[in-house]
Amino acid sequence: MASNGPNATSVVVRTTLPRLPLPPTSERLAIHTDRLLLRPLTQDDLQAYYALRKQPEFMAESTLGKPDVDISETQAALDDLANPERENFIFGIFVAATGELIGDGGIHTVRFGSMGWPEIGYKFVPAHWGRGYGTESMSAVLKTWWDLPRQEAEVKAHPDTLQTEPEGSTLSRERVVAEIATYNKGSQRVLEKLGFEHFGTWDEPDTQLHRLGQPLEMGHYMLSSPS
Ligand SMILES: CC(C)(COP(=O)(O)OP(=O)(O)OC[C@H]1O[C@@H](n2cnc3c(N)ncnc32)[C@H](O)[C@@H]1OP(=O)(O)O)[C@@H](O)C(=O)NCCC(=O)NCCS
Repeated sequence: MASNGPNATSVVVRTTLPRLPLPPTSERLAIHTDRLLLRPLTQDDLQAYYALRKQPEFMAESTLGKPDVDISETQAALDDLANPERENFIFGIFVAATGELIGDGGIHTVRFGSMGWPEIGYKFVPAHWGRGYGTESMSAVLKTWWDLPRQEAEVKAHPDTLQTEPEGSTLSRERVVAEIATYNKGSQRVLEKLGFEHFGTWDEPDTQLHRLGQPLEMGHYMLSSPS
């Protein structure tokens, strides 16, 4: 189906979303998978998180696209994650057997994402790429996300996210979306393995400091809630 692209007019739909406020990070249960442990990051993780965030490859696809220059930037990022006013559903991702922090990810935008829907993102240190951790961790996060208590909500949705809506439904089926640079084949593959479908590709102004405002080709993906 043809994409309406970046300038499409949003469509207001009634749907469900996780009830706000989300449980405070201090009350969120850890998520266990076969090989990983996921839990909210705390102040105790500062040094380990800095060791990740100073690696350029870890930060290459983040909003600003640059590593932390010193630990105060990591502290600010940790503070932001714990700030209840900046609702997020982000987890630190640890190897269960060793306790090593290797990545972070989850729903970074809970309300009012650029496509209207919650948005997922994730990143790992290169030493742990290609082991299936991206798929394993985000599959578990999504399962936990869909299990959160719901409330009805209004969403200003990009019309391309509504193309598969059944006729006559009163509440739109909920979505989670992802935006990925088209060169990022590994991340696209993770989304495919999680069941996301591609709904459009178009240029957007880059947010990364070294290419600020230049056109960047982004693929847009969505996952519908389990029926
Ligand atoms: C993208 C990223 C999250 C993938 O994590 P991962 O743990 O390596 O992912 P998985 O092992 O679960 O799956 C990766 C898949 O992509 C494939 N892949 C990796 N690089 C690829 C490439 N250049 N071209 C095609 N496929 C590629 C792998 O073969 C694997 O698919 P398979 O299981 O069918 O073989 C990781 O590389 C990363 O953290 N990169 C930096 C940050 C980033 O890009 N984040 C995503 C933006 S939100």
